[in-house]
Amino acid sequence: TDKTTSAKIEAHDLAARFYHHLLISTEQGKEAYEYIRQRGLDDDIISRFQIGFSPGQSDMLSSLLEKRGFDLGDMEEAGLIGRQESTWDVYDRFRNRVMFPIRDLRGYTVGFGGRVLGTGDPKYLNSPETSIFNKGEILYGMDIAKKSIRKQNTAVLFEGYMDVIAAYRAGVDNGVASLGTSLTKRQAQILRRNAERIIICFDGDNAGQESTEKSAEILEQEGLHVLIAMLPDNNDPDDYIRENGGERFRKEIIDTAVPIMSFKMQALKRNKNLQVEGEKLEYIEEVLKEITTLGRAVERDFYLRQLADEFSLSFEALKQEQYRLYKESR
Ligand code: CTP
Ligand code: MN
Ligand code: MN
Ligand code: MN
Ligand code: MN
Repeated sequence: TDKTTSAKIEAHDLAARFYHHLLISTEQGKEAYEYIRQRGLDDDIISRFQIGFSPGQSDMLSSLLEKRGFDLGDMEEAGLIGRQESTWDVYDRFRNRVMFPIRDLRGYTVGFGGRVLGTGDPKYLNSPETSIFNKGEILYGMDIAKKSIRKQNTAVLFEGYMDVIAAYRAGVDNGVASLGTSLTKRQAQILRRNAERIIICFDGDNAGQESTEKSAEILEQEGLHVLIAMLPDNNDPDDYIRENGGERFRKEIIDTAVPIMSFKMQALKRNKNLQVEGEKLEYIEEVLKEITTLGRAVERDFYLRQLADEFSLSFEALKQEQYRLYKESR
């Protein structure tokens, strides 16, 4: 099996170089190249992330792999090719897509994400789970970001490939992404081994908001200090950078990241009109409920005091009420 493992890794390396070549130096890759350029990526970034293109023809990669002597059964297991059920014919898994090689910590390509040009379904097609590609253990971009993550003692966690790449171009070179699935404990442990602080910068939509809370919890359980960088509604980091530039992204989004509690308070505020007395009381109650979930007394005190100041209430009354809610929730 060791031999098939290295064959699978070699095949991925060959595929990544092949797709990259097709993108940057062939007529077939021209449309994809223009698509990526128009999304703001330059040649440096394209080669740094080894972005590529898989053409529409269904035997581009499979015939190359066959010619180079790779066992097609292994290649099927590696998720690079598929087989027609009736005829047993092989075909390339990725067709007509912009290709993002996914590398493990050592820098070996072990999978791909493939994006349609423009619109189509699915927008992203990823490699399946294989013996060399365990999605829950890999963070996209980690091989490139690792050095900076260690140096800054901070990692930035994004949702998507394009966010990592756009952020890198904007000077945020400590970014990684968790491959479409929600963050796993294993991924959190990998981050913890390289930094103490993590900034979550997910999409500014409901899905992004929800996974922010889930991921934050997992990261905190591994002992990381978590900050949340918030984006305007319906913007993702890549959109934001394209619309506002890299400097504003760094200064107004990354550098202004807030602790989870502030993030939750802002979310609770969004659905309320605090000029209305009843809604104000509701808000205070909801914040107090969140405060009861905080593990450290110092943190609870900090936010109780903040709440007391903001609404001109006595600290003692808030603390009493918070304690009541805490007992009620047990
Ligand atoms: N994703 C996926 N399969 C999909 C959609 C998304 O695997 N059908 C993953 C990809 O890793 C993607 C990430 O989830 O990068 C975030 O999804 P989304 O926000 O929809 O994609 P973007 O990265 O914003 O894509 P783009 O900017 O290219 O439209
Ligand atoms: Mn999204
Ligand atoms: Mn997005
Ligand atoms: Mn999008
Ligand atoms: Mn996007």
